[in-house]
Amino acid sequence: MRVFATRRLPGDALDRLAARHEVEVWPGQLPPGRQELLARAPELEGLLSLLTDPVDSELLAAAPKLRAISNYAVGVDNVDLEAAARRGIPVGNTPDVLTETTADLALALMLGISRRLLEGDAYVRRGEWRTWETGLLLGRDLYGATAGIVGFGRIGRAVARRLEGFGCEVLHTSRSGGVPLDQLLERSDFVTVHSPLTPETRGLIGDRALARMKPSAYLVNTARGPIVDTAALARALHEGRIAGAALDVTDPEPLPGDHSLLQAPNLLVLPHLGSATHATRERMADMAVDNLLAGLAEEPMPNQVTPRAP
Ligand code: DGY
Repeated sequence: MRVFATRRLPGDALDRLAARHEVEVWPGQLPPGRQELLARAPELEGLLSLLTDPVDSELLAAAPKLRAISNYAVGVDNVDLEAAARRGIPVGNTPDVLTETTADLALALMLGISRRLLEGDAYVRRGEWRTWETGLLLGRDLYGATAGIVGFGRIGRAVARRLEGFGCEVLHTSRSGGVPLDQLLERSDFVTVHSPLTPETRGLIGDRALARMKPSAYLVNTARGPIVDTAALARALHEGRIAGAALDVTDPEPLPGDHSLLQAPNLLVLPHLGSATHATRERMADMAVDNLLAGLAEEPMPNQVTPRAP
């Protein structure tokens, strides 16, 4: 069957796919443009997409032969799940394998922003380090802090396990329980976001939520950029209303080099690296290919997504 993979993947998983199907792999570093995707749609039977590729109702309508979609990510906010379900097209994702890797990065961000790692590194490189100083680049402890986890799925829980090792008091809020969000925001020294991007979570951390955080608290986001209102965060940082933010994901993504958020103080920002280890990205590739092979064979995908209940 005709399959389009919108990017090369680490490891040899795509070879397994190519052994069974007619696979075109987009060779670019950047995602294929909209027209490139639409041009392939009429003959497409399988699609292996990345989180950068909008798989929306227009694309699905242009792809009458499409039988299976496999998204190389655990998040599926780039895929119109309802439109796919209406067509009976299964959608696969890559849960579990990236949980611990992403949780590690959330902790790295918490430590990086609160212990001022970037400022320290820049200070040394600028040749300004003259002696050990009692008041140089003082930060705040993660050890013993109160940490609030927004979204308590696999990754949120993996972050909680790590924070317990740091002696933190861990609060969480989620659709199914925990403390109310306002209470979490008011009590936490670190607020770390681990929800999926849904209509309910889009813009969840905006002016109102940021105003509830302590001025000494840090915001960390390794989930999806649009859960945090970028303009509201930039204002809060400029006005010193929170101590800092460490973001692995942003809105927009990528963040242009001249974006106003990057002018904000006390900001650590990464280019969406949550799952970016050799081992994890290779496992994700294997899972994505296994999902697609199953979907094309009209078998249940090992990891098939069902649209969330409203
Ligand atoms: C995902 O899989 O959704 C992650 O954001 C990729 O790192």
